[in-house]
Amino acid sequence: MNKKLIKEVKRSFKTQFKDKDKPLLIFSPGRINLIGEHTDYNDGFAFPAAINKGIALAISKSDSKKSKAYALNKEEMYEFDLEGIAPLNKGGWRNYILGVVAELQNFGKTVGNFNSVFAGNIPGGAGMSSSAALENSFVYGLNELFDLGLTKHEMILISQKAEHNYAGVKCGIMDQYASMFGIKKSALLLDTRTVESEPYKIDFKDYKLMLINTNVKHDLSESAYNDRREVCEKVSKLLNIVALRDASKEDLDKIKSDISEEDYQKARYIINENNRVLEFSEAIQKDDINTLGDLLYQSHEGLSTKYKVSCAELDFLVDRAKENENVLGSRMMGGGFGGCTINLVKKDEFKKFKKEVSKKFRQAFETDCSVYSVKLAQGTQIVN
Ligand code: GLA
Repeated sequence: MNKKLIKEVKRSFKTQFKDKDKPLLIFSPGRINLIGEHTDYNDGFAFPAAINKGIALAISKSDSKKSKAYALNKEEMYEFDLEGIAPLNKGGWRNYILGVVAELQNFGKTVGNFNSVFAGNIPGGAGMSSSAALENSFVYGLNELFDLGLTKHEMILISQKAEHNYAGVKCGIMDQYASMFGIKKSALLLDTRTVESEPYKIDFKDYKLMLINTNVKHDLSESAYNDRREVCEKVSKLLNIVALRDASKEDLDKIKSDISEEDYQKARYIINENNRVLEFSEAIQKDDINTLGDLLYQSHEGLSTKYKVSCAELDFLVDRAKENENVLGSRMMGGGFGGCTINLVKKDEFKKFKKEVSKKFRQAFETDCSVYSVKLAQGTQIVN
């Protein structure tokens, strides 16, 4: 499927720019996350993996006085000056590209003008990090094209800054990391403090991962995300620690009377979720598939009732999974307020559950959910 995407981007590049030179071609994947949600900006652990869906980019140097980016899916062209870049009001996809260029400049790198075409096959708003894939494709492409000499670690920090300063989301590093460093058939036990990971070959035996997209993205997602981050930082400060990763339940209980019940519950969630990631990795090592499922349900419970980043549609999907004995575990994935659930479903029963849950979802919300299976794939790479 990606071959097709890459071909389309290549063809469109030719049409748009009539360039005789062949462009550099990059593929940058989206990600899933097995467990460890909202832990990344708390210096904690997460368990993401790059997937076989993402962004394909064709890019080449240009002699023109402007740079050009063409969004093939939207059929929109954007031309801009490399000097005086600032975030656009309601700029959508443009801001990710502007952000990457501007953050490269802030890092002291000189980028020349370029022509580019990109397209993606990650459903937008699904919580599968199409934005990190887009940022990484450009930072990787520009690094290569203009010989900037950046390491992958530097590149993902630039992508993250683009997200902070040009998309306005104070995200952690999980998405950009997974998209850049993904390994085929593996998930990455990521320590977001050291920004290093350990790959785990994933084999769920008789089970496989199913993503169910609610196809909704509730409006408050961005502001709520930044609010959650602020709460975590406030509680860390009170505890006199760098981040909630360093706190235990006992530490938190000592300041319980100094914070609101809501903030207490949110911090509690982070401490629990961080521990769950480590338990999850142990269960994988022991081939203890039932524990994996339980941990997914516990994670959702925390995200929904303590951290409060779920929504009716996501809760509905997790409840339907709980009712079905062929589903071992289920939880919302990503930032929340819409997007996907990630489910561990018995291989033989995959189709049946898909049919069943889709029907129930339609009855409840009068709109369709979408079901995907994904493969764990390699991170951002040149595909020429
Ligand atoms: C979004 C952010 C990530 C992470 C997740 C929640 O995807 O971009 O940094 O915080 O939400 O785990």
